[in-house]
Amino acid sequence: MDIQNALAAPAITRREDYRPPEWLVPEVALDFDLDAARTVVRSRLSVERNGAHGEPLRLDGAGQELLAVLVDGVAVNDWRLDGGGLVIPLGGDEHVVELEVVIEPERNTQLMGLYASNGILCTQCEAEGFRRITYFSDRPDVLSMYHVRMTADAARYPVLLANGDPVASSDLGDGRHRAEWNDPFPKPSYLFALVAGDLQVNKGAFTTRSGRDVELGIWVRAADLPKTDHALYSLQEAMAWDERVYGREYDLDVFNIVAVDDFNFGAMENKGLNIFNSRYVLADADTATDYDYDAIAAVVAHEYFHNWSGNRVTCRDWFQLSLKEGFTVYRDQGFSADQGSAAVNRIEAVRTLRASQFPEDAGPLAHPVRPDSYQEISNFYTATIYNKGAELIRMMATILGPAKFRAGSDLYFERSDGTAATCEDFVACMEEAGGVDLAQFRRWYTQAGTPRVQASLSHDDGRARLRLAQATPPTPGQPVKEPMLLPLKVKLFGAETGRALADERLVLLGDPAETIVFDGVTERPVLSINRGFSAPVVIESDRSAADLAFLSAHDDDPFARYEAMQQLMLDALVADAVEGDRSNADAVVAAVADTLDDPALDPAFRAEAVLLPSESFIGDQMSVVDPDAIFRAREALRRTLGERLAERWAAAYDGPREPYSYTPEAKGRRRLRNVALGYLAAARGGAADKLAFTQFEAADNMTDRMGALTVLANGTSDLREAALDIFYSRYRDNALVLDKWFQVQALSSRDDTGVAVAALARHPDFTLGNPNRARSLIGAFGVNQRAFNARGGEGYRFLANQLLELDRLNPQTAAKLLPSLGRWRRFDGARAALMRAELARIVGAAGLSRDLFEQASKSLEG
Ligand code: PHE
Ligand code: ZN
Repeated sequence: MDIQNALAAPAITRREDYRPPEWLVPEVALDFDLDAARTVVRSRLSVERNGAHGEPLRLDGAGQELLAVLVDGVAVNDWRLDGGGLVIPLGGDEHVVELEVVIEPERNTQLMGLYASNGILCTQCEAEGFRRITYFSDRPDVLSMYHVRMTADAARYPVLLANGDPVASSDLGDGRHRAEWNDPFPKPSYLFALVAGDLQVNKGAFTTRSGRDVELGIWVRAADLPKTDHALYSLQEAMAWDERVYGREYDLDVFNIVAVDDFNFGAMENKGLNIFNSRYVLADADTATDYDYDAIAAVVAHEYFHNWSGNRVTCRDWFQLSLKEGFTVYRDQGFSADQGSAAVNRIEAVRTLRASQFPEDAGPLAHPVRPDSYQEISNFYTATIYNKGAELIRMMATILGPAKFRAGSDLYFERSDGTAATCEDFVACMEEAGGVDLAQFRRWYTQAGTPRVQASLSHDDGRARLRLAQATPPTPGQPVKEPMLLPLKVKLFGAETGRALADERLVLLGDPAETIVFDGVTERPVLSINRGFSAPVVIESDRSAADLAFLSAHDDDPFARYEAMQQLMLDALVADAVEGDRSNADAVVAAVADTLDDPALDPAFRAEAVLLPSESFIGDQMSVVDPDAIFRAREALRRTLGERLAERWAAAYDGPREPYSYTPEAKGRRRLRNVALGYLAAARGGAADKLAFTQFEAADNMTDRMGALTVLANGTSDLREAALDIFYSRYRDNALVLDKWFQVQALSSRDDTGVAVAALARHPDFTLGNPNRARSLIGAFGVNQRAFNARGGEGYRFLANQLLELDRLNPQTAAKLLPSLGRWRRFDGARAALMRAELARIVGAAGLSRDLFEQASKSLEG
């Protein structure tokens, strides 16, 4: 590490150091003179000393020019700037502090604070962006009432939006106009938002169950207006769902959503004014896939649900982030499950958890759901906080049952409304309303790592014994783990009759090892365990391929059927990748055939169940990841399935064509057809490219077009270039669709993907300045296991170069893409050395952001 970085090594913030704020700020008035080049912000804070102490007022700030400081109406000069913050000595207990600062939105490439995106001025304040707008007590436990006044050019910025309700607007006569907004709900600064731009609105209405008429608006550029109906409909559905399922009503007269093209995350739940990455708003059949439609509904619901789980009840400090994020993800998953197929939704949620959270738990960046420390909080918007956090809520719901869980949620909202709460507050409400002891369960918040459960079943004399043993592997900073409380849903099936031998049992495994006894077991039992994925753990069992195939055909829990098939496939793939043993392929073929033939299963479920596990998930099962062997094994099994079940794939593919509609049934049929196309291509090689190209040209929707393009992009025929060219010329002006064009090439399984991606990084339409575009190429390449891990290390070098360049523009987005390089421990010595060399190069780079430094240095140590 070079000396400069060692000296600049950022301070660590620790959970145990939490202290209540020294000063409160009950009211804020903000006055913005908006201009992309130079915006003047005047603020008026009423401040109150919190408790008896003599400390000065300390305000956070960054990246602004301070013009004036007034205390109680009088200009003062005894303030000082300290580490970016502003310190003002104050004699009394209550004062009015006025500040004037200047900021430069159009030079803000970090996309934190006030910035410009394609001519729209907008804000992003979570977690610590408000301090880039003006000096303020920028911490989530300081709650203030905001009054906002905006003045701007009327032609360039005809629409002026902020939190809460609009209270006044006026034309200033000189080409400028003004609007005032008032938010009656006290909120932390991270929920502040404003938008100024030339926007059109798709308006809708919603009447809450107590009779409040709410005006809904989806604000976009004029050309995008036809693509906003799905977002608006999803919002109305989400509002009704939250009333029905959680008893939560909306509380203002307006609710606005604005779409912007440059955004670091998915969307932001600012009170009454959600700001979205346009990819989670805009959809029509021609440009958005079914996956996009579902993601829009889920994200719109997620941000709306934050109005209670996040805004009405917010977080005391950022270590409590999962209080709002884990709970809100759990809520949006429930919404999505109710909108479509619950089984398929659960499968997708578990797939996401395994693809992004399990590797996090197993790597150098592992952290508890409630972390103990951070250097840069932006690095903690992780799959652990969000997705594992949601699993914790789900486990509590499983332990309590639906009625008591709802009572716990009601108690939590009632007791914590208007406060900044902690994860502990939430668990305490669940404990109280549920009448259960969650003492051991709390370890889920403090211990990182994915527990592993060994399960073995024995049977004699009419009795089955299930022996369960749990252990959690060490993670950085936590060498020794305590046993966890694991809610495991278990059921036994008879191997001969196929019938259930007993009702499903909920086993609460709390000891390191336990034996569960089942009586009246008259035939050989087959174990179905962790049904519905009731606990986010890895199950290690000695079930044979035959038993897994049996469960994949007979289990009455659809998730367990899927899971049995996955395990069967995984066992076969690992055996081939490690030992070249292909003896289990027949069992996989037979099980896939049974699933395809089962008329009781809907097409969407069949499509999910017959998909092979991803290359990286296969790698997670191996002691040393061998990307080339995994790829070879997976391709071989894909080809075997394609060839041996050729008629079934053809039948699934050739079914009657129907015009596009977005219903769960039509979606499922499209999904199955595209999965079938993939298997046909695996069997027929280049011969299937014609089929794919025909589908590509005939498609009346983006799902089928992308399904075909994905197959073509993996192939080698001339039709590949033709399709990519057609797609490019058709959509070159649509940024969101062009992202797909970059992504499909970065994810390609072709041998030359590394070279192709390096060339695409020089394409005139590629830019690191737009986070979606950067993710579509660089992010996708980083998760392409085989291409990224090319033996010579050129993939690692490419990613490191891109991240160093991106870091200068947008540290948050750069840091998000680093973890692919941090998995070196999982690979052979040669690859590990190459990855470490790139990490060391990043850590040593001059002028590195705190964000990238934390991720890279922790990954190197790990
Ligand atoms: N709070 C946002 C969400 O999950 C995520 C987000 C975090 C957005 C930080 C922007 C910046 O809904
Ligand atoms: Zn969220």
